[in-house]
Amino acid sequence: MKKIIAANWKMNKNRAQARATAEELASGLSAGKPADRTVMVFPPFLAIAEVNTVLGGRAGTLVGAQNFYPAESGAYTGEISLAMLADAGASWVLVGHSERRHVLHESDSFLAQKTQYALRQQFGVVLCIGETLEERESGRLSDVLTRQIEQGLSGVLGMSKSLLQEKLIIAYEPVWAIGTGKVAGEKEVLEAHALVKELLGKQGDDLSSLPVLYGGSVKPANAQALLGLANVDGLLVGGASLEAKSFLNIINA
Ligand code: 13P
Repeated sequence: MKKIIAANWKMNKNRAQARATAEELASGLSAGKPADRTVMVFPPFLAIAEVNTVLGGRAGTLVGAQNFYPAESGAYTGEISLAMLADAGASWVLVGHSERRHVLHESDSFLAQKTQYALRQQFGVVLCIGETLEERESGRLSDVLTRQIEQGLSGVLGMSKSLLQEKLIIAYEPVWAIGTGKVAGEKEVLEAHALVKELLGKQGDDLSSLPVLYGGSVKPANAQALLGLANVDGLLVGGASLEAKSFLNIINA
């Protein structure tokens, strides 16, 4: 399976900055990207069209959105629909990122609704899961991942396995490793990813073949080691994806 290297730019970059980074990324990718990599970029909403102009349509490169509202249109002030995102060139969405769970207070049931809705609308979904430090230290890692996977996937188990394999990715991002410079150790990554695969194996008709990405303080210096670990099918990168050079080094790791 190709390793998936995804950039989450979060709330960074105006349109000109996003375009400049995308252009630098495109020329770096043209200079040579390993054939066994799929690259995804999740810019802020207003930069999606710019980034898509530069990167959309390149083989093995996908553009997505960091959020959306699960309704077709209507009275949802401040929200954005999948049709609007598709019009700007996005074909994937992030769901359940820790900042949506913990800062914006999105619940497991709302995230399940979003996951199901996006897949029904032919969007790909990166469903993010992960425990806080307090949950880990109180021995609740397994409970938290079980709840996030079971509830997050509750609406999609009736969908065809081939659709899920093509359009659904899980990202394990321990909350304590996000933006802290504190990458999870080898032992923690191996343990969590094995658990996630085991839990996926118990969902529907065995979803253990879904890709599972690691996220949390990924840097060019640790990317290769992380990609070499069992059950790590790719990386979801925040801070180190903002600079094209650094993200290219991760893609090429
Ligand atoms: P950092 O790579 O900045 O820790 O962020 C990880 C993340 O949240 C990606 O979605």
